[in-house]
Amino acid sequence: MSSFESKVRDALANPQNQGEIPDADAMGTVGSPECGDMLRMWLKFTEKDGKRVIDRASFQAFGCQTAIAVASMATELLRGKTAEEAKHLTASELTGDLGPLPPMKIHCGQLVEGALRNALDNDSPAMPTPGNLAPTLASSLHRPAAGKLRIVPLD
Ligand code: FES
Repeated sequence: MSSFESKVRDALANPQNQGEIPDADAMGTVGSPECGDMLRMWLKFTEKDGKRVIDRASFQAFGCQTAIAVASMATELLRGKTAEEAKHLTASELTGDLGPLPPMKIHCGQLVEGALRNALDNDSPAMPTPGNLAPTLASSLHRPAAGKLRIVPLD
């Protein structure tokens, strides 16, 4: 087993931050028409030292093991970051201890990056959305995917 595979296996043995944050400030969802996998991310912000930073990030995935492992790493990495800092994290930085993804798995990391960007785009600090009653990821699965080889933000 490669070191990458064993790191993914370790991350999957104890995935962090799975599930919805019911009072999240922002939520983003993406689907990959390439493989049909989907990932949703929630962000909850707090004030720390006069800055608005991510207090918690969580995810729900209908995706491969790599996407789940990356999302677990990424949601840990996001804690304490401002929205601006989070925006500048690349897919390869979001993989954390997993290191670079193999070529066939690049889009798995991009799925996580896409969900984060979509959540940050949907974040509107001036208009908090308490009790975000977004549909569950499962209810979004029937949405038709557009294009090919693209990560598509969903409403
Ligand atoms: Fe599609 Fe990994 S195979 S996200």
